[in-house]
Amino acid sequence: MADYDGDCFLVPGPVRMNQACLDAMATPVITARGAEFRAVMADLNSGLRYAFNLAPSRPEMKTQSWSGEDDYKVMAVSGSGTAAMEMIIANRFRPNDLVLVPTNGKFGERVAEMCKRFCNVKHIKYEWGRAFDLYELEQQLERKCYEAVLICHNETSSGITQDAPSIAEMCNRYETSFILDGITSIGGLPVNLEDWNVEAAAMGAQKCTAGPSGIAAIAFNSHFYERCKAIKEQGDVNALFYLDLISAHKKGDDDQTPWTPAINLAMGWAAALNALKAEGLNNRWQRCQELSTGVQNLFLDLGFDLPADISQRSATVTAVMYPEGIDDRWRSDLKENYATQVIGAQDHLKGKMFRIGSMGETTKEEMIEGCKRMILCFKDHGHELPQVDVDSYF
Ligand SMILES: Cc1ncc(COP(=O)(O)O)c(C=O)c1O
Repeated sequence: MADYDGDCFLVPGPVRMNQACLDAMATPVITARGAEFRAVMADLNSGLRYAFNLAPSRPEMKTQSWSGEDDYKVMAVSGSGTAAMEMIIANRFRPNDLVLVPTNGKFGERVAEMCKRFCNVKHIKYEWGRAFDLYELEQQLERKCYEAVLICHNETSSGITQDAPSIAEMCNRYETSFILDGITSIGGLPVNLEDWNVEAAAMGAQKCTAGPSGIAAIAFNSHFYERCKAIKEQGDVNALFYLDLISAHKKGDDDQTPWTPAINLAMGWAAALNALKAEGLNNRWQRCQELSTGVQNLFLDLGFDLPADISQRSATVTAVMYPEGIDDRWRSDLKENYATQVIGAQDHLKGKMFRIGSMGETTKEEMIEGCKRMILCFKDHGHELPQVDVDSYF
């Protein structure tokens, strides 16, 4: 296998951007309303539909590139993934609605927190990395009091992917809307909005699709749109202006946005999404899975603990507990001495765990080299590890 001698950037987003994405962002200024930008928007929309695993659309303006032969539309959002989730939540729920939010990590908890600003929430908090108790969720849904179930599909803070097909099946049986934070799943692991009858989902450019930070997107079906429209018409809508879905919807057919779009970020993201199309969505899912499986098996064999439940470990991020006596100083040394970056943990796990990203365009060679450097850095910190053949895990 070819050696890799560059920096290893193994962070679960933002991820490294390719040269085409960087070059596209260096395009000199264009207007926000002219044909040039509308062509960018159409290209972006077509790429977004591909990443969301929706029916295709043509990447040309005036072709309704945001829609396709299914019930979904896509919409770019200026702002990071959080803005996209807020757009979904703030437009879709009335202050009196009740939603169910099961969580097992920081980002799910953030979904619950965000919902609390706009509606009523039943927040079921599981330990970070533990799978949801589906029996408990079913008991909740039997009460038929929930407008929707919202989940963080791939919990980046603890490295667990939720069992979305089972939760979707339950939501459909109890006629409850199903909404996803797909910020580190969409584009990186299998997501099927149509089969699962997901009403709306959010993604962030800087994660699995290797685009720039500061732009995100939502996909939603007609039921979602009709509910948002009815709520607005009834005057029951939450306080919002910039993220008003109905204002944005009015501009969609025209490949336009209601406010000045993130023009150069959109150009960069469209280029990154074209790289995803060239690789193929299934190939990318498979590469992420192979990288994460390799990392997980390697660290288990080295004697580390992985906090996520074994049957639901994520394909795009692996959380690894530090062994006794090691803390985030290891991560600083890894960056300083080995030009290799992984990310730390949040909240109560800060300093006790680190996370390795396997999303975007990360290659097998980079991952192998990164893992070898991590092992060397653990040895520098006095942590003895068994001899392993790192290459053989990938
Ligand atoms: C699953 C998940 N949801 C939400 C977010 C927040 O997204 P952003 O930082 O793009 O606003 C992140 C960021 O890491 C994430 O991983």
